[in-house]
Amino acid sequence: MRKPVIIGNWKMNGSIDDIKTFIKNIKPSINNEVDSGLAVPYTLISTLAKETEKLNFKVGAQNMHFDELGAYTGELSAKMIIEAGADIVIIGHSERRMYYNETDAAVNLKIKSALKNNIIPIICCGESLEERENFQAEKIIENQIKAAFVGISKENLSKTIIAYEPIWAIGTGKTASTEDAEAMAMHIRNTIKSLYDVETSEKIRIQYGGSVKPSNIKDIMSMPNIDGALVGGASLKAEDFIKLIKFFE
Ligand code: PGA
Repeated sequence: MRKPVIIGNWKMNGSIDDIKTFIKNIKPSINNEVDSGLAVPYTLISTLAKETEKLNFKVGAQNMHFDELGAYTGELSAKMIIEAGADIVIIGHSERRMYYNETDAAVNLKIKSALKNNIIPIICCGESLEERENFQAEKIIENQIKAAFVGISKENLSKTIIAYEPIWAIGTGKTASTEDAEAMAMHIRNTIKSLYDVETSEKIRIQYGGSVKPSNIKDIMSMPNIDGALVGGASLKAEDFIKLIKFFE
């Protein structure tokens, strides 16, 4: 059985006061049925780690550099975000691919560095609307997955989380239909099966992301190949986030 994993992505939002209030509000709802957590701006990681100490709550960064150290102005390494208190990191979010030209090759190097340093990567993949309309979605996702996992052992692979996030569904209010999301999650699992083996493909957790909210989380989580959600907008409000991490009630 794969444990559900629901992670909020605060993107470039929130202050230290916001995160303190947020955690105070959601604390009683953090449970062991679901692995929950938040990926926050770098400046909030240490506060989030402190506020959620000893709870089943993942402390996340939204990016990292693939190198250990060096002349990379404005960047942070895996060790640095771990030192701040992070135990998960989003890699290859479409906003980073789009606005910062993050390539599949960079995503692969970042995953390797994350795994080497024992931080769990949430690896994002997703197609554009144009690609979907041209019936290229499956191929695009397959290529992103294959490129992401080049040179990664199956032991390491099962520690990672994959997030399928169709770009056209992010922040638009448009959710992929549960059937389309499930079909792509199954396609991702089959791709992992072809790269590794059945056992490994059954172990890896696959999230759906793109306009997930309290009103659709139950349907999304009822899909057999979807094990969780990566949530942007709806993770900013404590009352919504509580409903997301208690979707099973
Ligand atoms: P959204 O963002 O939930 O606001 O669509 C999802 C994401 O970008 O991870």
